[in-house]
Amino acid sequence: MQSKIDLLNRKRGEAQLGGGQNRIESQHKKGKLTARERIHFLMDEGSFEEIGMFVTHRSTDFGLEKEQYPGDGVVTGYGTVNGRLVYVFSQDFTVFGGSLSETHAEKICKIMDLAMKNGAPVIGLNDSGGARIQEGVVSLGGYADIFYRNTMASGVVPQISAIMGPCAGGAVYSPAITDFILMVENTSYMFVTGPNVVKTVTHEEVTSEELGGASTHSTKSGVTHFSCANEIECINNIKQLLSYMPQNCEEDAPSLTYDTNEETRAALDQIIPENSSQPYDIRDVINEVIDESSFMEVHKNFAENIVVGFARLGGRSIGVVANQPAFLAGVLDNHASTKAARFVRFCDCFNIPLLVFEDVPGFLPGTDQEWNAIITNGAKLLYAFCEATVPRVTVITRKAYGGAYDVMNSKHIGADMNFAWPSAEIAVMGAKGAAEIIFKKEISEAANKEEKWLEKEKQYSDMFANPYRAAERGFIDEVIEPSQTRIKLLRAFKMLENKAVSNPKKKHGNIPL
Ligand code: HXC
Repeated sequence: MQSKIDLLNRKRGEAQLGGGQNRIESQHKKGKLTARERIHFLMDEGSFEEIGMFVTHRSTDFGLEKEQYPGDGVVTGYGTVNGRLVYVFSQDFTVFGGSLSETHAEKICKIMDLAMKNGAPVIGLNDSGGARIQEGVVSLGGYADIFYRNTMASGVVPQISAIMGPCAGGAVYSPAITDFILMVENTSYMFVTGPNVVKTVTHEEVTSEELGGASTHSTKSGVTHFSCANEIECINNIKQLLSYMPQNCEEDAPSLTYDTNEETRAALDQIIPENSSQPYDIRDVINEVIDESSFMEVHKNFAENIVVGFARLGGRSIGVVANQPAFLAGVLDNHASTKAARFVRFCDCFNIPLLVFEDVPGFLPGTDQEWNAIITNGAKLLYAFCEATVPRVTVITRKAYGGAYDVMNSKHIGADMNFAWPSAEIAVMGAKGAAEIIFKKEISEAANKEEKWLEKEKQYSDMFANPYRAAERGFIDEVIEPSQTRIKLLRAFKMLENKAVSNPKKKHGNIPL
């Protein structure tokens, strides 16, 4: 009994385990917080209620019966973040490397089940060497139980995974099914198999950081959505992320109160360069249009040719998807397509309206793109927009060329309101290329081919390098001055507030994966 009381007394500190102080120090020495400290910083003060503190593993193989730790390497429970209910599990690397035993898995499953029944987000603070090797198939089964719940919860309650230490094997697949992954720089890694196994199998020599550090996964693979300088920044990002989301798919995200103000944004009239091939930063457009300082960019360093993130407009949460002319001219490629598709689907799952800024010269040509399935990947974005039923508004700031015009939330695929700035160019392709193809004969027969080509380029450009042909057809609802964009969007999203449409009844669609 005394030992149980001791445990309870230590509950607000760290050590629920034998040798507590050493264990705390071992984490701190690595620049990491402990499992309980992480929960302490995440939850509203005094709100955390622990579940399953005295659970121990049942394994007797390899002498494990002598190594019993209450809680079995994971702290689980519920509490509030900014006054809203969340469920949380926080793995303790100091117990068998945070590895997942049968009982460790049961604890996580228990809070996931509660989250589903009560419609609230699940936050996983991961720090784990994967399946507990000594337990064999039982621990694999435990992972499968979690993967199954992750999948059932997908689109029902938001799921957020923070990676706060080395995570290997099964410890990476559960986060991969969740909605957002955040990694901490220099102390967290994600890989299916670590550097030693890689060396044995492929003879590659690679460090943990190169193989699966925050930098790798936030730039090369796109596995993580956020790369955070330290654990506190990571936890603050989780809190901010939650603020844009509803508790579950039946609810709307919380709105902040907003009083209409002077909404003209004169700076927007100066953003588009004279020369239509010159870049500009689409973030300047986003930040002018949305509520001040409300943009939280997702996947910032991955596929930078498209910008996605959460923002507020008139206090209401929105998802922004925008081509980025400052990077690869804003072209759509494999990574940009999958990045945006995933974000669009998240917003649609959780009733977050979508705002699209379009300035796209088309899909990126080339063998690299084709061989890496730009057809399938581009189709993912197309599919994601087509099936989204949330309010959807597009602003074409400049180029809307080719298939990318269709894909980027055109009216044809279900957008509710489409605006264009006077600088918009909406055509099958750029005027130079178009002239070369459709006036090939005339150009080749002309005495001065270069002059003819320029003449035909101008002819095509005069006809299509503007928004009015599309507006004549009703594909654009209104051509607006850039400075009026915020006002128009505030009104459009207000008008769409009660939008209710549903897709045809089906078991589920078959997105081109
Ligand atoms: C049991 C484990 C463990 C595991 C680590 N430990 N991983 N115990 N099961 N999976 C223990 C270590 O024995 C050690 O115990 C303590 O945790 C700390 O580990 P270290 O190796 O000293 O730490 P570090 O150098 O930081 O390296 C961390 C690591 C490494 C990169 C995570 O431990 C590692 O590679 N672990 C194995 C990873 C792995 O292959 N997992 C896959 C399991 S299969 P002591 O007592 O010495 O302190 C799997 C499949 C699931 O997950 C299915 C997916 C679909």
